[in-house]
Amino acid sequence: MFFIAPSLLSADFTRLGQEVTDVLASGADWVHFDVMDGHYVPNLTVGPMVCKAIRPLTRAPIDVHLMVEPVDALIADFAEAGADLISFHPEASRHIDRSLALIRSLNCRAGLVFNPATPLDVLDYEIDRVDLVLLMSVNPGFGGQTFIASTLKKLAEARSKLDAYARETGREIRLEIDGGVKVSNIAEIARAGADTFVAGSAVFGAGSADDPHRYDSIIGALRAELAKPKI
Ligand code: DX5
Ligand code: ZN
Repeated sequence: MFFIAPSLLSADFTRLGQEVTDVLASGADWVHFDVMDGHYVPNLTVGPMVCKAIRPLTRAPIDVHLMVEPVDALIADFAEAGADLISFHPEASRHIDRSLALIRSLNCRAGLVFNPATPLDVLDYEIDRVDLVLLMSVNPGFGGQTFIASTLKKLAEARSKLDAYARETGREIRLEIDGGVKVSNIAEIARAGADTFVAGSAVFGAGSADDPHRYDSIIGALRAELAKPKI
């Protein structure tokens, strides 16, 4: 029930395909794909062509996190490029309901992303159209930042909304956390309610370059923390 989604942002871009293959061979569940446009966030990363290039390497879900404005044109491009999940920040869409509907119409699962200072209100009105809630635990733009502790309270708030919704409708919505996740805090984050964990620098910073099993121990360590009984 817990999924680990390594963020390619911290992968070695000179050997991206091998990084994807190796991290999945080490037991990662999803590939988290950070898209930044130098406009909505002050950094510029990769687009649909790179998503399309890695698509044939795996059947694991590609989890596209759009940090772009506007969102709709790129939603269509990423669906075409083979994304499975597409999430966007509500501030960056002209019409949130329409963007969510667009994602599903292209046979992808739809996610809303909330920055640390963005309240969850939109979720109350759009929950029927959402398959994934992604809470940022850093301000988006860069890998390697420190987990913002107030996100734990927000995770608990989101968890109770999603649990109430699941009881009412029988539909489970994933609750993903993104930013500053490490072996030292993943258990506490899980206790607060997350079920899906993005980890960039913690995963790709581990191990030596030529060992295809270099991510086994970090992913194993993250899972071992998740397996610890709740206190
Ligand atoms: C931040 C990105 C994150 C980031 C996570 O803007 O959305 O996915 O790469 O990296 P770490 O795990 O290093 O905080
Ligand atoms: Zn991300």
